[in-house]
Amino acid sequence: TTLLLLNGPNLGILGQREPEIYGHDTLDDIAGYVADEVAGAGWKVVSVQDESEGELVRAVHAHRFSTIGAIVNPGALMIAGWSLRDALAAYPRPWIEVHLSNVWAREQFRHESVIAPLASGVVVGLGALGYRLAARALLQLCDTDAA
Ligand code: DQA
Repeated sequence: TTLLLLNGPNLGILGQREPEIYGHDTLDDIAGYVADEVAGAGWKVVSVQDESEGELVRAVHAHRFSTIGAIVNPGALMIAGWSLRDALAAYPRPWIEVHLSNVWAREQFRHESVIAPLASGVVVGLGALGYRLAARALLQLCDTDAA
């Protein structure tokens, strides 16, 4: 059983990227935290990060039937990532949107997400802990014999 961890543009440089906003953990650290959360259930994690929306769409397609659920941080694609939105609309399993920062406390342009209405839930503002919490939520939401 495999969980998809999908991260969009600019999230591959976590740890160095505006650490006062996004924290000091790297994406590898975060993938490790998620893996730790789900290991007890026997789940593995496939982690995909890309700067381009097309590659993220491809990843959603590629893992559509081989993953039990997904954690998605779309980065700035939250704002107008319509193709990613449509790919996730066709993703048949539960998934959770995560933002490290509290987007509601930031610039106005970060206050809307085109993908959030499709998510099972959204975690914002809790840093790397948000990914852990999303993983825990998916353990509960996902039927473990489905993938
Ligand atoms: C982010 C918030 C987005 O507004 C921003 O574009 C990011 C990171 C977050 O995790 O807080 O790239 O998704």
